[in-house]
Amino acid sequence: MTARPACLLTDLAPGSAVRVEIEGAAGVVEVAVVRTEDGDVHAVSDVCSHGQVSLSDGEIEDHTVECWLHGSTFDLRTGAPLALPATKPVPVYPVTLDGERVLVDVDV
Ligand code: FES
Repeated sequence: MTARPACLLTDLAPGSAVRVEIEGAAGVVEVAVVRTEDGDVHAVSDVCSHGQVSLSDGEIEDHTVECWLHGSTFDLRTGAPLALPATKPVPVYPVTLDGERVLVDVDV
């Protein structure tokens, strides 16, 4: 388990997400790093569990992200799908804040 630098807090306006690639033990992992309107920071797989599209291009509302293609929403805290058509969760990764640096561990 190794937390690696993903981005800076200043890259993340409240209610937005950025797509980053993080080198993990099993290779490169595409991650959506999300800052909610209330300031919490989450990291989930950037790849929707229903299709090969980027969740970081979706809409952030409360603690969810909505896939822009078919509208499934995912809980950013658990990765669980909250609306069809997605039925599988997306992986969730631990986030650590080190000052302005956002660290993500993709090896959990
Ligand atoms: S690709 Fe995301 S809900 Fe279909």
